[in-house]
Amino acid sequence: MSDPYFQTMFADRIGGASYGKDTEIYKFEKIKRAKRKALAEHPERELLDFGIGENDEMAAADVRALMAAEIDKPENRGYADNGIAEFKEAAARFMERRFGVALDPGSEVNHCIGSKTALAILPAVLINPGDVTLMTVPGYPVAGTHTRYYGGEVHPLPLLADNDFLPDLDAIPEEIRQRAKLLVINYPNSPTGKTATRAFYEKVVAFAKANDIVVVQDAAHMMLTFDGEPLSFLQVPGAKDVGVEVHSLSKGWNMIGWRIGFVCGHPLLVQAFSDVKDNCDSGQFIAIQKAAAAALDDDAITAATHEKYRRRLVKLVDVLQACGFECEMPGGSYFLYTKSPTGLADGRTFANGEEASQYLITEHSICTVPWDDAGAYLRFSVTYVAEDEAAEDALMAETKARLETIRPVF
Ligand SMILES: Cc1ncc(COP(=O)(O)O)c(C=O)c1O
Repeated sequence: MSDPYFQTMFADRIGGASYGKDTEIYKFEKIKRAKRKALAEHPERELLDFGIGENDEMAAADVRALMAAEIDKPENRGYADNGIAEFKEAAARFMERRFGVALDPGSEVNHCIGSKTALAILPAVLINPGDVTLMTVPGYPVAGTHTRYYGGEVHPLPLLADNDFLPDLDAIPEEIRQRAKLLVINYPNSPTGKTATRAFYEKVVAFAKANDIVVVQDAAHMMLTFDGEPLSFLQVPGAKDVGVEVHSLSKGWNMIGWRIGFVCGHPLLVQAFSDVKDNCDSGQFIAIQKAAAAALDDDAITAATHEKYRRRLVKLVDVLQACGFECEMPGGSYFLYTKSPTGLADGRTFANGEEASQYLITEHSICTVPWDDAGAYLRFSVTYVAEDEAAEDALMAETKARLETIRPVF
């Protein structure tokens, strides 16, 4: 088939004239294909899926009931623009109650249609061609992709075990610091499961002030903090002077598909975010905002999600340790990020996480996500479907039965 006349017209940012012709297979597609193959070749073997990065449960019943009622109200039918006061007020109450962070709901909070869109919009607020966004790697790439769309550059900050999976801000070259406008961090971190310390956040504030850099702290996994109380960046003195925090109801409230979150922090940054957002979307459906406001007020929801994923992670860590993996309980998120084996006792070797991951899916029907951006790691997610604790235990027993003889080598 010949190319359409517009084949040569695609913007360089998505590949220019070669758009759509790329034959490279990306990580998540490889995983999907390997899953299909494992199911076809071993229909008798249950696929143990630790690859999914989405909550396995629906939103709380009360939240769904409220949503159902709000759908029928005519006053909720229209454009929501930059959001309703009820949601902003609930977000401000949540920040005050859970973190002791006082925010003016009118000027220091704005909703977003999921934090993904906020991370896509925020580079538009600051990045001109040639500007630099500092971003931790491995991580959620959206702010970096949009930085490049605007002609900016991304300077990666590797998250390494040697530095406790915190970025080494002192190692950033002077020339990069001078051009950097944005620092994107994410704690609790996905995928490493590391949480930030107060001392680290204090360092980030000092670094931002010293170098005139705006900080975006992605708090998508905030309510899944296991090594203490969840810590907001905005709790640290001076944080509101240098940036914003992006919250999401996806993970902690089981509201992934609802697409709702909020940006909060410095009022001028929130205003700039809202101005760009206003040119991208017309706001989340008001019924969703109202249901989400109720969810934000209900700490029992996040307590239940937290307990469930904590319990599942404890069980997974026990099983993997018993099978010879070198892992420990993550500080947060529903991911266990663990060193990928370099081989097995039988002499088999793996060049990277991807090869180890392919081995697990092909030979044992165990799905994981490899991360090879800063060392070779495997990510096990505990968002697998299991209807009760007995089902979780059965799944863990099966995982152990399949892995206990492989004897990984590190
Ligand atoms: C680190 C991180 N940030 C942001 C997001 C986006 O979340 P949402 O758009 O559902 O709020 C995700 C989703 O996986 C994530 O892992």
